[in-house]
Amino acid sequence: MEVKLTQGIFDKEQNIEAKAFISSLSFDNRLYPYDIRGSIAHCAMLGECGIISPADSQKIITSLNGILEDITLGKLVIKDADDIHMFVEGVLTARLGEAGKRVHTARSRNDQIALDIRMYCKEAITTLRPSLAALIKTLAAIALEHVNTVMAAYTHMQKAQPVTLGHYLSAYVQMFLRDIERLNDCYKRTDVMPLGSCALASTSYPIDRERVAELLGFSSVTQNSIDAVSDRDFQIELVSACTQIMLHLSRMSEELIYWSTSEFGYAEISEGYSSTSSIMPQKKNPDVAELIRGKTGRVAGSLTALIMLMKGLPLAYNSDMQEDKHALFDCVDTTESCLKLMNGMLSEVKFNVPALTKGAKQGFTQATDAADYLVKKGLPFRTAHEIIGKMVRYMIKNKKTFETLSLNEYRDFSPLFDADVQEALSLKQIIASRVSVGAPAPSAVKRELKAALKRLDKLSL
Ligand code: ARG
Repeated sequence: MEVKLTQGIFDKEQNIEAKAFISSLSFDNRLYPYDIRGSIAHCAMLGECGIISPADSQKIITSLNGILEDITLGKLVIKDADDIHMFVEGVLTARLGEAGKRVHTARSRNDQIALDIRMYCKEAITTLRPSLAALIKTLAAIALEHVNTVMAAYTHMQKAQPVTLGHYLSAYVQMFLRDIERLNDCYKRTDVMPLGSCALASTSYPIDRERVAELLGFSSVTQNSIDAVSDRDFQIELVSACTQIMLHLSRMSEELIYWSTSEFGYAEISEGYSSTSSIMPQKKNPDVAELIRGKTGRVAGSLTALIMLMKGLPLAYNSDMQEDKHALFDCVDTTESCLKLMNGMLSEVKFNVPALTKGAKQGFTQATDAADYLVKKGLPFRTAHEIIGKMVRYMIKNKKTFETLSLNEYRDFSPLFDADVQEALSLKQIIASRVSVGAPAPSAVKRELKAALKRLDKLSL
């Protein structure tokens, strides 16, 4: 049975196209579990506070549980209503008659939708966190295997300094740890129960808001009824946190994409996560990584959409806010699937250790350490920088590297170079000498990974 809200005030039927246009049912239908659980808690409280009779309260709760089960089992199809709230109320009234019509006492769809979205966002955070944790664990395991795998790190996409693959992947561990922390922070502000704010001015019924919060597992209740129905900050925070996750996934995808080119050959993405071309039989395209990178645009678009939606809206509820759901659901679904896919893809990536090491040997990645070598022998850094710059020019011209240069050639540039220079400038030594917190020495990376996993263990997931 459809609840016809217009029957009281309106003389005229709603225009058929306007009615379809106004309805949010086609996209808010997925809020049904939250909406029904919210109504159950609300009715339990109404009964306990004597606002409706205990008998009606019980009848409504039993019926709502039945509706929840029927929808979940596919026995009841969500259709023919303005939105999910009106659908549930309509079915309840059809099944219960008079008692069903009491469910909306001391409530408005404005606080109802605020509650539903908060419940949805809390659950979304609870789903995203373990996916992030799984990805962190995969990354940490691969990083640990490669604490000795030397590779070149880049700035400006130009070879910069030697690090290890373990150190490199650990950078992503840090990013995804921050992402969980961001979600946890956002959770605190989402975990606040808005029901009881009603349309915007609360209600004169003797309601017990804390009881509803307790029944629904919320930590506290909102403190201003106007704010409670106008606020979508928590939602924007979640979408922003998802955008940040996607940015990290996108940068990692980009690395995997160019690392697996024949030019780089640092990594190979498994066939399970690749596609081929419809025309070029030789192609192995990194589609999953490319699509993660591409979907990042969509998620960032959701953030923009929400910000533009809320910008300039007067308090309190406005129908514009109904348009917040596409962005929210799409953002959460996309982020969750990208996290899962990245984890699967990453666990099957084959890293090409010889190619990575070879890459570090090219491009004079030892140059900074060569300058530091002279500084340690007493030269000012700027002077050392100039000397090494000249040496690199010489090496390029004569097709030499720091490894193939003779001691005499070193000394031609500075008498401060001693026999220990070759050893000091070996990639292994350069890396081993960087032991401070966050540095690439194998011992430091192992220590930092251990600390990261400990930090992960302490986070609520
Ligand atoms: N369908 C609405 C939404 O998604 C629910 C709140 C409607 N309130 C109202 N007064 N029209 O935001």
